[in-house]
Amino acid sequence: MLNRPDGVLAILIGVSRSGKSVYLKSLIERVGRIVAFDPKGEYVRELGFKACHTQAQLISALASSKGDAKIAFVAIEKNDFQFFCQVAKQWNRQKMAVIVCEELANVTNSGKASGKWGVLVSQGLAEGPIIVGTVQRGQEVDKSILSNATYVHIAKHTTQKDRKYIGEMLDIDTENIPSEPLKFLQWTSDKGVVTRGSVDFMKSRTRKSWPRGGPRFRDLTGKELVPSGIGMFENVVYR
Ligand SMILES: Nc1ncnc2c1ncn2[C@@H]1O[C@H](COP(=O)(O)OP(=O)(O)OP(=O)(O)O)[C@@H](O)[C@H]1O
Ligand SMILES: [Mg+2]
Repeated sequence: MLNRPDGVLAILIGVSRSGKSVYLKSLIERVGRIVAFDPKGEYVRELGFKACHTQAQLISALASSKGDAKIAFVAIEKNDFQFFCQVAKQWNRQKMAVIVCEELANVTNSGKASGKWGVLVSQGLAEGPIIVGTVQRGQEVDKSILSNATYVHIAKHTTQKDRKYIGEMLDIDTENIPSEPLKFLQWTSDKGVVTRGSVDFMKSRTRKSWPRGGPRFRDLTGKELVPSGIGMFENVVYR
């Protein structure tokens, strides 16, 4: 459905507290221009994003940000998400941006990507953004999106049914889908499964704010994995 997009579409899947946001925050640290749909307000609290609570505030914050900016739309309603997709797409056209959509299951349906969200991930993707979406189960993300993702970052799954679904969808051996928190597997559309590993918080555990450079991502041998600018791991050991 998507026409050879130039942008990046990344989907992060895993149960609550599995490490999706930890991974995403490490990507966010590396980019300057970013807008997030932030239902829990965590980007505001932990990463110092400028908080917008209404559509008018969001429009005004985006309009006054021509270059680098970190803006969060703290909202939960579907119509707010549609609005977010529309204005985030425009903002990216002015200058390439990262667009984060947390908790997609609450604001999209699992059929075909529709409305402004559908437009963002089809036409909008060709305009070059990095679009990152998070869900707790593979079944919750629009099918068209999963099969067109540039990469999928898979964290802990608790049920065999969920493992089976994503395993079949992406042709991944279900045994390799993580069953513990902070373990992950990364799949890319080009190469399939590229790496498996875990998050290592090291000494950052005591810090309240998001620790810059704190968490480390390690492969199964303990070697550090460095996420690239678009979030994929660069020095992966191909298996
Ligand atoms: N700096 C840190 N030090 C130690 N543990 C941390 C740190 N930051 C996050 N964690 C822990 O890592 C785990 C994963 O958290 P994360 O926010 O990534 O979950 P998530 O997959 O995004 O879940 P949700 O779907 O609820 O948003 C949590 O148990 C959290 O407490
Ligand atoms: Mg999260």
